[in-house]
Amino acid sequence: MSEIYLDYNATTPVLPEVLEAMLPFYREGFGNPSSSHATGRRAQQAVDLAREQVAALLHCAPSEVVFTSCATESNNAAIKGVAAALARKGNHIITTKAEHPSVLYPALHLEKAGYRVTCLEVDDEGMFDPADLEKTITPETILISVMLANNETGTIFPVGAVGEIAARHGVYLHCDAVQAVGKIAVDCRELQAGLVSLSGHKLYAPKGVGALVVRQGIRLQPLLHGGGQEKNRRSGTENVAGIVALGQASAIALGSGAAEAARVRELRDRLERGILEAISGVRRNGHPTRRLGNTLSLTFSGLPSDSLVGALDRLGIAVSSGSACSSGALKSAAADGCTQEAHLRFSLGRFSTGADVDTVLDILPGLVESLRCEAGGDRGACR
Ligand SMILES: Cc1ncc(COP(=O)(O)O)c(C=O)c1O
Repeated sequence: MSEIYLDYNATTPVLPEVLEAMLPFYREGFGNPSSSHATGRRAQQAVDLAREQVAALLHCAPSEVVFTSCATESNNAAIKGVAAALARKGNHIITTKAEHPSVLYPALHLEKAGYRVTCLEVDDEGMFDPADLEKTITPETILISVMLANNETGTIFPVGAVGEIAARHGVYLHCDAVQAVGKIAVDCRELQAGLVSLSGHKLYAPKGVGALVVRQGIRLQPLLHGGGQEKNRRSGTENVAGIVALGQASAIALGSGAAEAARVRELRDRLERGILEAISGVRRNGHPTRRLGNTLSLTFSGLPSDSLVGALDRLGIAVSSGSACSSGALKSAAADGCTQEAHLRFSLGRFSTGADVDTVLDILPGLVESLRCEAGGDRGACR
């Protein structure tokens, strides 16, 4: 059976146009952008164009785009870089429990080094109230880091409102926009975020490239010191082909991202309705309305965790078991009893079709029934 891929939040395939754009930079366009000869200058021009394409998608200036190796690097660079640059101003950082480990672990690392970290809990819809966040700001606060959209549940955080609060208090805001870019409009100005992270492989570019937007005036110590590339903000010879790919993927997202998101949302909604109608004991995770249109996080009662993901995998359907509760994307109370439940995250994308949805809706009800039957121990009664 050919594989049905419904795990786009984990990674996306490289679009054919993106691959076409990047390949010349492994061949005749192999130059080092720092070289002053024609081969180097051509590589530099390609990087410059990509910078403009990324900036156009995120509504910032090209000079504010710093290319990195992945969003994990971007998040580390933002959090540790601000902490180092503003160490004299204060030592308090605010974030949420729903953040990706590439935000939480740098924050924990800083906590061990003497910084104070406030980690806001989210409610059982995976949301938090910006007013609660504001109450935790002190004169020592130097950075707020909140994601735009959650990777497990798709819940979209009110980052614009947090941006207003941050601006009012003179605190930097970093936003991990990895899961949002290409799925919803991401406008750095509206978010009022001084720092924004994104990742190539979530946007139909390859793995190994990312970016950090550093708005003008933001003080940041670099993570990597060396040859002074990226205007001293990120040393290391540029991954030219990867950067070209990220630029091309950004241009495609800008051109057709909104139409594609609407198509994918319809598919996701049909999948969601179909599952909730056909199968009992299923709970949808995340916010009912403020949620990415491609993501469907579900919890199935009466099944061992991970049982469904493995069973679907054996049938050629790739989904994630990403547990919304253990990842902190939902309130701790909602996580009680998580191990007696199975979690599924469907995340759809550009190559998802109505036929994919039909296949899942055909297979899943029977599969859940037989797995529940086995889990209940009454194998004789199982069909
Ligand atoms: C919300 C979020 N932030 C950061 C990352 C890390 O991205 P990368 O794989 O580019 O390091 C991911 C990857 O899953 C993510 O979902």
